[in-house]
Amino acid sequence: MPRLVSHPDEVKIVSRRFGMGATDIDRYIELGGYEAARKCLAQGPDWIVEETKASGLRGRGGAGFSTGMKWSFVPKQSAKPKYILVNGDESEPGTCKDHLIFLHDPHAVIEGTIIAGLAVGAKMGFIYLRGEYRYLLEITERAVADAYDRGFLGKNIFGTETEFQIITQTGAGAYEVGEESALMESLEGKRGVPRIKPPFPAVVGLYGGPTVINNAETIATVPHIIYMGAQAYCDVGTPRNGGTRLFCISGHVERPGVYELPMGYNLRKMIYDVAGGIRGGRKLKAVVPGGSSTPVLLAEEIDIGMDFDQVGKAGSMLGSGGRGGDRRPDLHG
Ligand SMILES: Cc1cc2nc3c(=O)[nH]c(=O)nc-3n(C[C@H](O)[C@H](O)[C@H](O)COP(=O)(O)O)c2cc1C
Repeated sequence: MPRLVSHPDEVKIVSRRFGMGATDIDRYIELGGYEAARKCLAQGPDWIVEETKASGLRGRGGAGFSTGMKWSFVPKQSAKPKYILVNGDESEPGTCKDHLIFLHDPHAVIEGTIIAGLAVGAKMGFIYLRGEYRYLLEITERAVADAYDRGFLGKNIFGTETEFQIITQTGAGAYEVGEESALMESLEGKRGVPRIKPPFPAVVGLYGGPTVINNAETIATVPHIIYMGAQAYCDVGTPRNGGTRLFCISGHVERPGVYELPMGYNLRKMIYDVAGGIRGGRKLKAVVPGGSSTPVLLAEEIDIGMDFDQVGKAGSMLGSGGRGGDRRPDLHG
């Protein structure tokens, strides 16, 4: 079980309920939970989409696409049911943040899924956990059952005429099903291999219906945005990269862990101040800035802000938020 770490530079938004017993629905409510969904029900779909766009939130699953923009691509009218799909596959090596969200704050995922459903007019959401996270399924299913008991899920959510249901599912343990179209194949009970695009999921997705697929951290962030206001969230980050991110720091550092830092936080500071530098005072050789599928940055390339644009400009990718120092065997001194 990963221990919770902390550093004074952290801005705890998504992780603010970690370690506070928020898996319990009463505690979650006590900490402000389900108020954002209630507000969204009152405000309506267009407001939710605009607020999400204004927050500068970009997908935390890898590609960094604007979440509000993605939601706006879903057709308002559809002959087929629309779906929300939460990607909790988290199979990118070095990435272990969605895991903490499910472990400490599963209701944030549920509330975010409800809000995404309200935004695009979907009545059904799926939470898909990677096969190896089977033990998190119990926690998540308990939370879903509690949300049904309280009337936050079901035919008439929050006492309104609006319906929203959630189904949980696990994979069988395959890296590839983290890719959104492969995940949909897997959820439909088929072999988890990617589909040819276009069509894109927003138009033809799960069971052929318009589908929003978002990473679990993306979805869990949305209630916080509604709660604190889009502008306040956006202001924490850098231009075009709103808010914070759960950065997973692993490899040969003194204090590995998951730290919530503002988007654009300097990578050198992240390694040397936040994570305490390289173990035993050794020399840094290289960093994988966004999960193992992203290009390596050399030691002299780490004076950059960790947001999608700056890491892209440096020739790599921010990816899924996993970074490891000194992992390449050929770079070990
Ligand atoms: C090979 C591959 C593996 C991926 N694995 C994951 C994953 O484990 N979790 C995830 O959220 N996104 C993963 N993605 C990205 C998804 O395809 C998709 O972009 C993402 O779930 C969209 O959510 P977001 O907009 O909130 O980031 C993967 C993509 C590829 C190409």
